[in-house]
Amino acid sequence: MSVVRSDFKKVTTNSVQEMKRNGEKISMLTGYDFTMAGIIDKAGVDVILVGDSASNVMAGHETTLPITLDQMIYHASSVVRAVERALVVVDLPFGSYQGNSKEALGSAIRIMKESGGHAVKLEGGIEVLESIKRILTAGIPVMGHLGLTPQSIYKFGTYTVRAKQEEEAQKLLDDAQALEEAGCFALVLEKIPAHLAERVAAQLQIPVIGIGAGSGVDGQVLVLHDMLGMTYEFQPRFLRRYLNLYKEINGAVAQYVDDVKTKDFPHADEQY
Ligand code: KIV
Repeated sequence: MSVVRSDFKKVTTNSVQEMKRNGEKISMLTGYDFTMAGIIDKAGVDVILVGDSASNVMAGHETTLPITLDQMIYHASSVVRAVERALVVVDLPFGSYQGNSKEALGSAIRIMKESGGHAVKLEGGIEVLESIKRILTAGIPVMGHLGLTPQSIYKFGTYTVRAKQEEEAQKLLDDAQALEEAGCFALVLEKIPAHLAERVAAQLQIPVIGIGAGSGVDGQVLVLHDMLGMTYEFQPRFLRRYLNLYKEINGAVAQYVDDVKTKDFPHADEQY
């Protein structure tokens, strides 16, 4: 099987659209801090999403709702300082864009100006279309997000697979079409049936990036801490763990503690 892999010096919103046209899959991971963003950028990831999942994995909240615009800007600016190649997309946090397109534009402008991110992402379909259109008027690229939308967790009550029923699937197809027509440059689909995600990707010209949405889409995204195995209680079927960093870090720290207690650290050649 031939694998398309172009050599973009800097990934832009145009590059990811070109990848879709060329049949090249798009790789995306979340990133929240300078050190990790530098590592994953150098490893060649195409898009780094400064996700509001920072609320969970960085701050320990149960949901993504508490994270603030200031906190997202802090994470995003740390990531931007490390990145040389990847496109940096920043989540607009809960409460910063829903229901008031003027506020949505203000939030997006703050992210772009204060963090140096390259695009914003927000959750929802037709309900947030006015906000999306207003953000786009300022020349800020917008990535959509449909399917499981964690900022609406209290409306849905669970993190189960979305759009399994025909009515919800049809709404998702209509929303996806509306987001493309409004001018979104790409779309994330989270935790929906693979056949539906494949249909959306075939229907749209813009790239569709899936998380728990099967292989028929144009790219994949995972939360960095999950794929590196730093989180261990979260075990959804779609998650492939590439490392067991929880175990590795735990072992290293236990060894360090032991070395200090037993006076094995530092050695003579580790001091001045
Ligand atoms: O915040 C996040 O990490 C996300 C991904 C799950 C797509 O939105």
